Amino acid sequence: MEKENITIILAPLQGYTDVTFRNVFPDHFSGVDEAVAPFISTMGQMRLKPSRIKDVDPENNKKLFVVPQILGNVAKDFIFLADHLYEMGHKKVNWNLGCPHSKIAKKSRGSGLLMYPEKIDAFLDKVLSGISNTLSVKIRLGRKSKDEIFKVLPVLAKYPLDEIILHPRTGVQMYDGTSDHEAFGKALLNCRHMFTYNGDITDLASFLTVEKKFPRIKRFMIGRGLLSNPFLAEKIKGIPGSKNQIERLKDFHDDLFENYQKIFSGPAHLTGRMKGFWTYLGPSFKKSKKGLKSILKARSMDRYQDAVNFFFKDTPGFLE
Ligand SMILES: Cc1cc2nc3c(=O)[nH]c(=O)nc-3n(C[C@H](O)[C@H](O)[C@H](O)COP(=O)(O)O)c2cc1C
Repeated sequence: MEKENITIILAPLQGYTDVTFRNVFPDHFSGVDEAVAPFISTMGQMRLKPSRIKDVDPENNKKLFVVPQILGNVAKDFIFLADHLYEMGHKKVNWNLGCPHSKIAKKSRGSGLLMYPEKIDAFLDKVLSGISNTLSVKIRLGRKSKDEIFKVLPVLAKYPLDEIILHPRTGVQMYDGTSDHEAFGKALLNCRHMFTYNGDITDLASFLTVEKKFPRIKRFMIGRGLLSNPFLAEKIKGIPGSKNQIERLKDFHDDLFENYQKIFSGPAHLTGRMKGFWTYLGPSFKKSKKGLKSILKARSMDRYQDAVNFFFKDTPGFLE
């Protein structure tokens, strides 16, 4: 039976889930309802980076409901960018309070702000009275300690946020270890806003574990799990898949490749982008090691395409 009462959101993955991916993916796989786009940084002095704005242009983002994400800590720059996005037609924007990279965190951006609840408070106070639409936040448990969130949640509770998406790791943890379900559960108890789970849903079993532990959660954000298994959302929702899995993956690959070919000028850029996807997708094929190695080694377009064709022809199947 199809599961209809849950929402699956494609996570923002910088360098992967751009407009091309968000348009190609839904032509091949179902089950994903929404996407948060990879972050756009605020720039200051009323400047905008055209390529980043183009990525979330509603005209080119019609296949999935897309929420743009902003990274920044200066209220007036945030308001300027958010209002630009609202004027383009977006109904929601998301604030990135989770980015773990130290270069960003050191400047009190992303997860770097989680140690300073008072700065978050001052920021939201200005931003929420300045923007013309709604805001959601994507957070981690903290920068250095998983207890930081318990000082942040009372601040967030003061504001009319649309949603809180929690990835239960700390920033310094990056992607080490596993998502902390116990800490997620505690945070959930302390939150009045719509709450979304994000982290390490890689197969049906890991989804069912989260669903069973947190029956209140109806919104699930999935990132790397969808890159390594594009059938995952269909599987979670019990949507029957048509055609052979390998054929579907090859069609998806070819479509993605063709669309990136229109954008990237040099072969190194194009194959580089495609190899990124292969690092997630490749290991999900049975006995993929050797074939994947030749794809990742390929330097020219011809070599890349030969290696990919051989991979799909030779593969004994896709992991369940
Ligand atoms: C390559 C990569 C890029 C990411 N880019 C962003 C981003 O732009 N904004 C953001 O909020 N999170 C970003 N994340 C974090 C993911 O959105 C997500 O929170 C994290 O991967 C955990 O979810 P998952 O286990 O389902 O992948 C990124 C993660 C990775 C691995």
